Parts: sequence; C-alpha cells; structure tokens
Amino acid sequence: MRKVLITSVDRSISSQVSEHLAGSVSVLCCGLEALSGVYVSERPDAVIIDINGARHGISAIDELKSIDEHASIIALTCGSDMATTVEVIKKGAFDCIQKPVNFAQLDHCLKKVFEGVDLHRKLGDLGAAGGEYRPDAIVGRSRVMEEIFKTIGLASQSKVTILIQGESGTGKELIARAIHHNSVEAGRPFVAINCSALVETLLESELFGHEKGAFTGALFRKEGKFEAASGGTVFLDEIGEMSQALQVKLLRVLQERSFERVGGSETIRTDVRVIAATNSDLSGLVTGGAFREDLYYRLKVITIDVAPLRERLEDVPLLVMHLLAKANRELHKKVRKVPEEVMSLLKAYSWPGNVRELENVITRGVLLAKGDVLVDVSLPGEERKNSDWKPATLDDIERAHIESTLGHTLWNKSRAAVLLGVSLPRLERKIRKYGLKKGNGLTSR
Ligand SMILES: Nc1ncnc2c1ncn2[C@@H]1O[C@H](COP(=O)(O)OP(=O)(O)OP(=O)(O)O)[C@@H](O)[C@H]1O
Ligand SMILES: [Mg+2]
Repeated sequence: MRKVLITSVDRSISSQVSEHLAGSVSVLCCGLEALSGVYVSERPDAVIIDINGARHGISAIDELKSIDEHASIIALTCGSDMATTVEVIKKGAFDCIQKPVNFAQLDHCLKKVFEGVDLHRKLGDLGAAGGEYRPDAIVGRSRVMEEIFKTIGLASQSKVTILIQGESGTGKELIARAIHHNSVEAGRPFVAINCSALVETLLESELFGHEKGAFTGALFRKEGKFEAASGGTVFLDEIGEMSQALQVKLLRVLQERSFERVGGSETIRTDVRVIAATNSDLSGLVTGGAFREDLYYRLKVITIDVAPLRERLEDVPLLVMHLLAKANRELHKKVRKVPEEVMSLLKAYSWPGNVRELENVITRGVLLAKGDVLVDVSLPGEERKNSDWKPATLDDIERAHIESTLGHTLWNKSRAAVLLGVSLPRLERKIRKYGLKKGNGLTSR
C-alpha cells in the first residue's frame, strides 16, 4: 500500500485529509519538528505539508529535499497567498493545493505523484535512472528483448559460438558484451574487430598476428586478437564481409582450436569464445556461395536475432529514458522530462537506424535543451511511417502544454500561470489565441 505522510499544525486539516485518504493509502501524521525523522524511517511515497503561512512550513520543504531530492511534496497553501505558491513551487514541491482542500484535486495530484514514483522505481530497477544509470545496461521490455535476455543468460553459461543477426544499430555488440560480462570468463579480455574495416591481409594479421619479416614492414612479431583475447571472447563484427581464405582459417580455429601466425609455422592453441555478428543475410550469402556453409553452421551453435526497433516500438520509452540518462551524464546536463507529445513522435517513427539513431536524436535533443525538458527532437521527414505525417508545430506543443496544465490546476489560471512561469495576462492572451475552453481539454499534466 502507498504511504502518505501528512504534517499540519492544524489538527482538523490532518484529520480531514487522513479521513479522506484512509483505506486507499496508508496515512501517517506527525508534527513539523518530527518530519525529517519520520520521512527517513518510513520513506513515504508522498508528503503533504500544510504551509499555513508559516516560514517553518516552507523550510521543511528544503529539509526534505536535502534528505531526498526526489521527495514528492504537496504543499497546502492559503487561497490568496500567491507569493507562497511561487516560492513553494520554486523549492521543488510537486504541487500546491489551496485550502480548503478540494479532495478531487488532491486525489488527482497523488495519482500523478504515484505514477512518477513508479516510473522512477522501474527505471531504477533497470539501472537506467539518473544516479543508477549503468552504461552497459540493455534496455527493453518487448517479448523479443525478453527472449534475448534469457538467451544471454543461457549463452553465458557455456563457451559455445554465437551468431548475432540484426540490422545496423540494433545493439548486437552490446549483446555480445553482455554475454561476455555475464560469463565466468568475465575477467578475461573481450576483443572486438570489424571484419569489413580492413583489407584481407591486414585483417588476417590483426586476427592471427604475424612473425617478424612476414611481409614488408613487419619489423617485429605481433600478437593477433586470438592470442590477445586468451581465455576471453573475440567478437567478429560483420562476419559476412570476411574473405574466403580467412573463412577457412577461422573454420580451423573453431574446429581444431588452433592457428598459425602470418609467416609463422608454430601452431598456437586458443581457448577463446567466438561471437560473430552480421547485418547481412548470412544464409543468403551461403546460398549465393559467398560464405562457407560449414563455417556458417559452426558459427550458429546459438543464434540471436535482434529485431529492428520499428518492430518493438514498445521499447522506445524505456530506451529514451535510458539514453537520456546516458546523454545527461556525457554532456553534464539534467534533462529529465519528456513531454507526451514528444514521446508520441518518437514512438511513431520507423527508426531505420535503430537504437543508434534514437541515441543520436536524444543526444542532440539534450545538447540543445535549455531547461530540464526534452523538446527538440528532429526526425527526418522522409523516413516517417505515414507519408502524410506532419510534425507538430511549436504552437501545437505550447497549446497542448497550456491545456494540460490548466486541466491539472482545474482551470485555476493564476496557479497555471505560476506553474508555466508566465504572467497571468500573458497566459490569458494564450488562452484566447488558442481558443481554449474549460472542459474540452486534457486533464493530465
Ligand atoms: N537495448 C538497448 N539498450 C540500451 N542501449 C542500446 C540498446 N540497443 C542498442 N543500444 C545502444 O545503441 C548503440 C548501437 O548499438 P550497437 O553498437 O551494439 O549496435 P550494432 O547492432 O552492433 O550496430 P552495427 O551493426 O552498426 O555495428 C550503442 O550505443 C548501444 O549502447
Ligand atoms: Mg556493431
């Protein structure tokens, strides 16, 4: 059950509110002087502070925020006290409710607090929330990703060869690293090499090493990736690009666990695990004769097919929050909010560049963000799902934001103006501009 802590010098307020909430949440009451202690021991989901025009009510917000910056505080203020409302919101209270308390408004406000708490916990569980962000976390809640998580668990218990297939930017390398890091060989090296990035001779010496004098410029003996990864994992990206000659040499590594350095005659034993990845249709390459069939079957002891992002759009919100935390960390920013309109745009896009493209969009948005809200997400128009798709204009977004804030304050324009950070006359001009009317808008913030 949710826990709500109430503090008020006015006993009748505490008892009215707790009577109203009793049954749906677990209610605790205490005096202002005991607030911090009770907060720390009970960790309530929300705290209702009756400011009652008193300074110590306001300083209690500071106190709680210094203990827990995520504390969700609802302040009860006196109807006409605009200055207190402004101050309380600035200090980081989740919302203000004027007395006498409108219980429908209080319920709505608590619902929003609980949703925020849930999201925060969920992201925390995934290691994606602000402080607990883990760069190597693989995020996803779709069936496909769930299956992949299970396969990673299974695959990391043995040293079998694995083939990961998927379009560019779907997270193949991330998955390969996760398998390695979850295995008993996690302390050994993980060495990645892109087979399409080097010409055949260079790739051969990168993989298998060379002896001194093996070719012009080979001044010293050099260890290859298979030796360097000793006991660990070699990740062969874009395996479909490997030449026929190297395919033969790799096949021997997989079958006999041995090879020779370029220009050498000494047979070297290897105990590495091979994980290969491809974004081309490997079985098609086999049919066309460009890829050896025997090697193909040796590689795909376990296969992992990573679906393109457009086939698992339900992963987008979690990925957005994860990538936001990642970009915040890299760019030293604090962008934490993603308006619903923006999230809808991101969920409707076809993501030809998959998660990597999403990451670029988020990083750019974070870079351009002025405050803590992600607003600037530009997606290339020609890649939209629907050819008749039109981007939301800034006016659309402003209108929706004003409308939802008014819904949230139950059309209390003064409070909405405070929350929106504009003067009341300015808000009224906007309401006229957009023809907003009570009762026909959104009610959520
Ligand atoms: N499920 C995921 N959760 C979190 N981050 C992800 C996820 N999938 C991909 N990423 C991020 O997206 C970026 C691209 O992932 P990665 O390099 O693993 O893709 P890839 O499939 O190897 O791409 P390519 O085929 O182009 O080499 C990386 O920054 C990675 O961390
Ligand atoms: Mg890759």
